[in-house]
Amino acid sequence: MTIRTKIVGTGSFVPEKVLTNFDLEKMIDTSDEWITTRTGIKERHICRDGENNSDLAINAAKAALDMANIDPKELDLIIVGTLTPDMPMPSVACLVQHALGAKKAGAMDISATCSGFLYSLSVADKFVRCNPEAKILVIGSEVLSRRTNWQDRTTCVLFADGAGAAVVTGTQGEEGIVSTHLHADGSVWELLTIRGLGTAHPVDQSILDKGWQYIEMQGRDVFKHAVKALESVAFEALEASGWKMEDLDLLIAHQANIRILEHLRERLALPKDKVFINIHKYGNTSAASIPIALDEANRQGRLKPGDKVLMISFGGGFTWAGVTMRW
Ligand code: ACO
Repeated sequence: MTIRTKIVGTGSFVPEKVLTNFDLEKMIDTSDEWITTRTGIKERHICRDGENNSDLAINAAKAALDMANIDPKELDLIIVGTLTPDMPMPSVACLVQHALGAKKAGAMDISATCSGFLYSLSVADKFVRCNPEAKILVIGSEVLSRRTNWQDRTTCVLFADGAGAAVVTGTQGEEGIVSTHLHADGSVWELLTIRGLGTAHPVDQSILDKGWQYIEMQGRDVFKHAVKALESVAFEALEASGWKMEDLDLLIAHQANIRILEHLRERLALPKDKVFINIHKYGNTSAASIPIALDEANRQGRLKPGDKVLMISFGGGFTWAGVTMRW
């Protein structure tokens, strides 16, 4: 009997504070019309002062554990995909572990930018296949607003804050993760980066003056790479699962840009109702975007037992990933 990794609970959380395109019009030289047509984003959620990545992650985790009806003390492992941890040490996962009282859980962060959740889910899948009893909390959580240059209209209209979570465990049934696919290409890292405030360029006035504490992106180049990588990993994951495109019930792709999602929908020849979209409400929340979408799809009743679901992501690094699962 095959052991599979099944999602038994999902949760998500976004900060209360909403920043609309109209708010941005008052801050920089932009318009609701430009942002909507170029990106599909209408509004996004931004942390208030003192609200941190771990706060979002903890709230999303509680919702997922609640749905799974699993006590935090039962957890064996907590994995957080993030590129915006509260601090370099400890990990967000350790802060979550402490806040939940998950006494026996190991905890670690995974740095894979917008693919952070799918990379983390993939690690959890391998762990569960070795130990089907294991209960693992997988989170994607970001506070990109604090790594965004609010004077740079080419990036600040895109990125936002939020967290999503899933609880996984083993099953011998037909449901669960079918295949996982992880990719990376570090040769083009400069197309999407935060250069500063790591150990290569520690905090220093010259670094701050250059704005290296913020996200830098060559938008057009990233766009081209993203559509190619997402399309290719979608076909790769389907083929590995023995599924045809028409078998698919729902595609949950990283919510980076509505035009990327539309392009993908056309290339994959999927009808509109099979592509989950919520970018208009949240913007690009990097590692949090897929688990937030997954939780919304779940709570909206868009996932029925046996449904074939494909999740795909792309982000800085570059990293990209695909996961197929039977709900
Ligand atoms: N408001 C008004 N005008 C703007 C804005 C803005 N917010 N931003 C840029 N412009 C202007 C530019 O200055 C430019 O003006 P010019 O022609 O006078 O020079 C014009 O709009 C066109 O700019 P482009 O950069 O060519 O616009 P484009 O159509 O490429 O859209 C965007 C930019 C939205 C960033 C797009 O390239 C994109 O989405 N790229 C991919 C980003 C992505 O997918 N990231 C995902 C992976 S990364 C991650 O998720 C962390």
